[in-house]
Amino acid sequence: MLTPIWPKTARRNANDVLEIGGVDVKRLAAENGTPLFVIDLEHLDNVIEDFVDATRDLDVKVYYASKAFSQSTVLQKMVDSGFGVDVASEGELRLALLSGVPGEEIILHGNNKSVTELELALSNNVNRIVIDSFDEIEKLTLMCGRENTHADVLLRLTLGIEAHTHEYIATSHEDQKFGLSVFSGAAEEAVRKILENEFLTLRGFHYHIGSQIFEPKGFDEAALRALEFMKLLHSKYGFITEELDIGGGFGIAYITTDDPLDIRVMVSALVEKIRKETTNRGMPMPRIAIEPGRALIGGSTVTLYEVGVVKPIEVDGGMSRLYVSVDGGMSDNIRTALYNAEYSAMIGSREALGNSVVSRVVGKHCESGDIVINDAILPSDIAPGDLLVVPATGAYHYSMASNYNLVTKPAVVGVQNGEVQVLIRRQTLEELFDLDPNLGR
Ligand code: LLP
Repeated sequence: MLTPIWPKTARRNANDVLEIGGVDVKRLAAENGTPLFVIDLEHLDNVIEDFVDATRDLDVKVYYASKAFSQSTVLQKMVDSGFGVDVASEGELRLALLSGVPGEEIILHGNNKSVTELELALSNNVNRIVIDSFDEIEKLTLMCGRENTHADVLLRLTLGIEAHTHEYIATSHEDQKFGLSVFSGAAEEAVRKILENEFLTLRGFHYHIGSQIFEPKGFDEAALRALEFMKLLHSKYGFITEELDIGGGFGIAYITTDDPLDIRVMVSALVEKIRKETTNRGMPMPRIAIEPGRALIGGSTVTLYEVGVVKPIEVDGGMSRLYVSVDGGMSDNIRTALYNAEYSAMIGSREALGNSVVSRVVGKHCESGDIVINDAILPSDIAPGDLLVVPATGAYHYSMASNYNLVTKPAVVGVQNGEVQVLIRRQTLEELFDLDPNLGR
């Protein structure tokens, strides 16, 4: 058992090679190539079970946010555990349907849903469409009228709260694209429009305050603001909120100093708070839904890279930094460049012998910002051919991967009890070249 940032079955075998799900990383690299995403399926099952335990007695519905990682086996696991799936595009919606997720278990998000997305949602009886704008109310009404159907909707609220990791900011308004504000009157007007509308049934509200959150304060404050809004609607229009979907955002550990809250503690405290505050306001308790993405899939996965080049570079004051180049980079992990995200890594293919040195793990792309780990502590004997393993790469890595420099997307494998299952095969250059109809081949 390694530190908690590693998947649960990760351990060193007798030869000091890292094993996950009973499969050593040298075999994984030899059979599947690198870079490679490796999902510890037992770890994933355990985390899913934690969410089942955390929500069962509270009657909280879990929707897996599939933007974190969309793949049929993973989606089926979620549905088999009683979870629904949150989708935010035609691709995510189609993949969920093709994976066997019933429409009734799907919730559709998006600030700019296309007609195709809305049609697909209506024709597959998607459980909830989350309204994000006045334009969308009009669009959906017209479509429902034309097709003589109706839609159950939630309205996305903007509550003036933004939360990320250790902090949250509460202001009276938010300058961002999602939802309708409870402070400007826009949300109330949207409610009125939906209530007057014969094709749309307003079931309740949704909000999502941010991602990778460790502190309960932002969630608490958001709930209070939503409840105040619900109370206003209750007293003014007699509207009873049946459902409150509080979004995702539960953080995970990427580095050992990250200290996320226990999901059980977090969810039960929040639901209790909502229950108490709802009663205080003389309203019935709405059904609560949550939409975790990262917290379900993030910690289950590692990325396997092969080291290609090791270069000491002199930096300020005669100090040196070891630049370790791996065979992937910003195309399989854009989070460091985009969010200054922090990671750690270890050599998986052998015992580390040298002293620890300050290193920087970089990719193979033609850009100096192509950094996987800004400050990595790695053994000084790290060398070309070593397999470098980065944990906590299950969420927003594969799903945000690109083909920059015409690099193909890595494969994703699942490991369990010594068995390897290809979940997504490696993209080929042929597949990329096929996109150019003018390429003479
Ligand atoms: N629900 C809604 C409406 C969302 O927009 C999101 C994430 C989630 C649920 C799931 O959030 P989670 O539980 O995974 O934090 N690319 C960024 C994260 C962007 C999240 C966008 N929305 C990253 O890599 O950190």
